[in-house]
Amino acid sequence: MTGIAILGFGTVGSGVYNVIEKNHDHIMANTGLDLKVVRICDIKDIDGEPGKIATKDFEDLLKDPRVEIIVETMGGLHPAREFSEMALDAGKSVVTSNKELVADCGGVFLRKAKELGLNYMFEASVGGGIPVIRSIMNSLVGEDITSAKGILNGTTNYILTKMSEEGVEYKDALTEAQRLGYAEKDPTDDVEGIDACRKIAIIASLIYQKAVDPEDIYTEGISSLTKTDLEYASKLKATIKLLAKFRKTDEGVAMMVCPFVIKRGTPLYGVNGVYNAVTVNGTMMGEIMYYGKGAGMYPTASAVVADVIREAQHFGKDISPGWTADKMKLIDICEEVRFFLVRTGKEDEDLVKELFGDVKIVHLEDRPEEIGFFTPEYKEKDFMELYNRLSCPVKFIRGDIDADS
Ligand code: HSE
Repeated sequence: MTGIAILGFGTVGSGVYNVIEKNHDHIMANTGLDLKVVRICDIKDIDGEPGKIATKDFEDLLKDPRVEIIVETMGGLHPAREFSEMALDAGKSVVTSNKELVADCGGVFLRKAKELGLNYMFEASVGGGIPVIRSIMNSLVGEDITSAKGILNGTTNYILTKMSEEGVEYKDALTEAQRLGYAEKDPTDDVEGIDACRKIAIIASLIYQKAVDPEDIYTEGISSLTKTDLEYASKLKATIKLLAKFRKTDEGVAMMVCPFVIKRGTPLYGVNGVYNAVTVNGTMMGEIMYYGKGAGMYPTASAVVADVIREAQHFGKDISPGWTADKMKLIDICEEVRFFLVRTGKEDEDLVKELFGDVKIVHLEDRPEEIGFFTPEYKEKDFMELYNRLSCPVKFIRGDIDADS
């Protein structure tokens, strides 16, 4: 029997319990492992069968000799950080879905686990049920990866899809995403791009083996996007998605998280609802794409259980992915080339042609006072000079191009 303890019995923690219970025989048949959740720790009362093995005292998990792996699904930095450290010190490997903790100090835990002959595993921290981390670390290990970009937050993708396809208001779509268990406890992390930022920081740290501090990444969320922005994008045969991306250059790595216009016909255009997708470019393989459900109880729990199984199959062997303590150098995003969706006053129509050339201008029926258009491609700093010369600009939204993929 492999004894597992679950720390934090919320959406993901209870999903892990159910997956292990429901798939027990299937896992046993496939791997020979007899997985059993022997303890659960949460500050709230737990009903039913799982309540019988519940405790409010974390020390009970550490003292229990049956517990070999602690699944940390409590989220947040504290006390998850202290508890994860105590778990490793007590000789238990840790499997987590906590992207905040992994992005903040994953490198420290990885080194500590290695020193102790344990593992710290976090497949579920990025892309929910999509096995992004293991695939990047194993299948792409021989690649020189030049860039990656992804839709890495299910909540915002769900919201933008609802707004765009069903004309649902932002607030109603967010409430529904919370009801479905996609959103973080504080959905600010989702809608302001912070969650996607942590996930892209983890991916880049793994690929380049250097620590990326999420605080250093230029990040914008979707809270200032409106249905009108999505209508303009649609009129121009495009949509808007929250993208997290990086691109390696000779000077360093350009990384950012913000809403991007995506043209119809490109791979990420069709990624809708709670689905996440990541495209990765390597010098030999070209572009590949991962796709699947990026949030929700069972997709995330499934990724946690996959890590638990892998650890149980390799006790004592170093199988954690990892990165060094060196900090990655990030470069100014204003040097990046892209197109832009611009909204400005109708009186700027001639000026637009003068500044941006012969661009296609569109109008929305209910906004006779305004025009919208895509610019040619510019370095962001050059675009800003032109944009600032418009007489009544409303807003601009960056456009995603294949060249920066
Ligand atoms: N709140 C996150 C999301 C959960 O919406 O993607 C999965 O990490």
